[in-house]
Amino acid sequence: MTSWPVHGKITGPIVMIGFGSIGRGTLPLIERHFEYDRSRLVVIDPHDSNRALLDERGIRFIQESVTPENYKALLQPLLTEGGGQGFCVNLSVDTGSLDIMQLCSELGALYIDTVNEPWLGFYFDHSKGAAERSNYALREATIGAKHARPAGTTTAVSCCGANPGMVSWFVKQALLNLSADLGLQVPEPKTRAEWGALMQQVGVKGIHIAERDTQRARHPKPRDVFVNTWSVEGFVSEGMQPAELGWGTHETWMPENGRTHEKGCQAAIYLLQPGANTRVRTWCPTPGPQYGFLVTHNEAISISDYFTVRDAAGNPAYRPTCHYAYHPANDAVLSLHEMFGNGGNVQEEQHILEENEIVDGIDELGVLLYGHGKNAYWYGSQLSVEETRRIAPYQNATGMQVTSAVLAGMVWALENPTAGIVEADEMDFRRCLEVQLPYLGPVIGAYTDWTPLDGRPGFFPEDLDTSDPWQFRNILVR
Ligand SMILES: NC(=O)c1ccc[n+]([C@@H]2O[C@H](COP(=O)([O-])OP(=O)(O)OC[C@H]3O[C@@H](n4cnc5c(N)ncnc54)[C@H](O)[C@@H]3O)[C@@H](O)[C@H]2O)c1
Repeated sequence: MTSWPVHGKITGPIVMIGFGSIGRGTLPLIERHFEYDRSRLVVIDPHDSNRALLDERGIRFIQESVTPENYKALLQPLLTEGGGQGFCVNLSVDTGSLDIMQLCSELGALYIDTVNEPWLGFYFDHSKGAAERSNYALREATIGAKHARPAGTTTAVSCCGANPGMVSWFVKQALLNLSADLGLQVPEPKTRAEWGALMQQVGVKGIHIAERDTQRARHPKPRDVFVNTWSVEGFVSEGMQPAELGWGTHETWMPENGRTHEKGCQAAIYLLQPGANTRVRTWCPTPGPQYGFLVTHNEAISISDYFTVRDAAGNPAYRPTCHYAYHPANDAVLSLHEMFGNGGNVQEEQHILEENEIVDGIDELGVLLYGHGKNAYWYGSQLSVEETRRIAPYQNATGMQVTSAVLAGMVWALENPTAGIVEADEMDFRRCLEVQLPYLGPVIGAYTDWTPLDGRPGFFPEDLDTSDPWQFRNILVR
């Protein structure tokens, strides 16, 4: 039997909100890697479809929705009962991340989530404009709360899954690998300013969160069912938000429907079109060149913001472009095609593929740093479903990359309990990857000489910038 390292002790109650594909996969990692009192673990979810896993362990289950009206009364006793420091692990959809993390801070409880989630209704609120429905707006509210907190408040880790989350740690490791391969003799950065300066020195123009999910379902997708390898609800919600990207200082062109923000960090722009219907050219080791969807994600903004170098007047002197370029599992691509073909109305039946419904495949998830002296460098995880089955129960490869990042984030929070609100970019990437690596399968780096100008123009004229392959003008599929 494998003996798993115990990374820390949780002294108070653990409250897990949401027990869907990610909650279910996180449970065995909590069991393996923490010392805690099982009788003080409680799971809250309005649906009881996964309840058997809890019942067989004798874990308390509360079948309820967490709402703006009930969250204080519901969570306060659960997070404080019996003393010690509580830990709120939010793995749900439709719960207000910011409100819950603020409550946790008042109660002295640690907090982690994998997405900056708004309360139910936000994503599909027709009275809101695109800017208001953006992740930029959600993040600005969280960053505002972060700065309003006095130093030394209880740690709340915001957006710590695979992406957002782990990929921010990959960016730092990739940057160090790249600078070593370029022969730069530089000490490892210690501060945010030093990280930005190194990114600028290496000459990275931009970063794709470049993902290819090749997991194949045993049975073909039926008509009128949305099939995915993780939350359908989560994917559809973010996919219907405007496409958003961290906006680099090297960009000379913006699409006509591109918009900047009036307030806040100004690190990102958005397009007046849904991200899951916006395609970009990108590259991953297995497929080589491919299309990905430019779905908005917190990390697209946080990474660009984190690596911004400012001049004496505070204006950005350097910033990398950053966005998601996601090729989901083939069934999810078909599901999106069907959904957008039907006026953006999501299929009534939704299905998340369990590990035993998948024949084979990997989730190849990494970061592509492009536009530097060695053209482009991908660094990331190539976790297969077969390996996932061997190392942990109740999840596919996609889930494993997320749940192991939650584990790493929880460990970091326990080791840094008074850091206030943090994003993955601000955490110790070495420590987090150390905890996570046993769950990521092969983690590799690969160079490519591919650029988004390859093979273009083909038979037809195109609007290209041939002076710089790495302009968003060349990357966006139009
Ligand atoms: N950062 C990442 O890499 C990453 C990756 C995958 C998923 N996620 C996020 O993790 C979360 C969970 O994903 P999943 O795949 O487990 O989704 P899922 O759809 O399988 O599960 C979500 C669960 O939340 C529950 N829920 C819905 N409303 C609730 C409420 N008001 N209160 C409490 N629970 C509620 C649902 O019943 C469901 O069981 C989602 O927000 C998703 O976007 C992040």
